[in-house]
Amino acid sequence: MCEELQNKVDALQEENARLKGEVHALREALHREGEALATGEIRLKLAYLSTIQALVRAIEARDPYTVGHSTMVSILAVTLARKLGLSEDECERVRIAGTLLDVGKIGIAGDLLTKREDLSDKDLLAMREHVHIGAQIVEPIIYPWDVSTLIFQHHERLDGSGYPEGLANGEIQREAMILGLADSFVAMIVRRAYREAHKEAEVVAFFRNEAGKTYDKESVDALVELLHTDPDLRREIDRFKLTID
Ligand SMILES: [Fe+2]
Repeated sequence: MCEELQNKVDALQEENARLKGEVHALREALHREGEALATGEIRLKLAYLSTIQALVRAIEARDPYTVGHSTMVSILAVTLARKLGLSEDECERVRIAGTLLDVGKIGIAGDLLTKREDLSDKDLLAMREHVHIGAQIVEPIIYPWDVSTLIFQHHERLDGSGYPEGLANGEIQREAMILGLADSFVAMIVRRAYREAHKEAEVVAFFRNEAGKTYDKESVDALVELLHTDPDLRREIDRFKLTID
């Protein structure tokens, strides 16, 4: 009887050791699979981010005054979006659209992009085409977010005075209004082919005056506050200005 029990104990111990080995092997396999998936995800993200970067360089190569512009717009717009309480997912949409905002300038004549004289009505109409072209360029790219609409709407203004469709309050997506404000602010604080940089205080005064008219008031208030309270944003803006001067 004693021997019989001992045999049972031995058999159970053997079974236990076998099960332990199996669990260990399964854990290892799970770990390997997880790692492979994570690597795949990271590689995919790197691939799409570098593709975006390549597109940005293509625009910057055509217009040296826009070097770093889209990166700065993207940083400012995301900072604004966070301050305004947009979700992380909405912020990511703003970040990608900000980077690609002016991708349509690839389709605009080079001499128009760097023209030093005032733009004629015909020039302005041609320049405005960049929102159509940009929206079309990103249209076939499958993002988890609708980036094309934000590119299409980033020059629309609250009172309907913008382009391409003269949309007004309620018709323009909130993210597009945030991007429009960030784009205008970043453009105004540095020099362009046709003008010198505006002083930041003058730019702030301009947007304070436009708040609730052409630009969303809540976004302008957030911008003014961030300029005074966010040291990271201040550092980015100062660094950006230095690269342009
Ligand atoms: Fe634009």
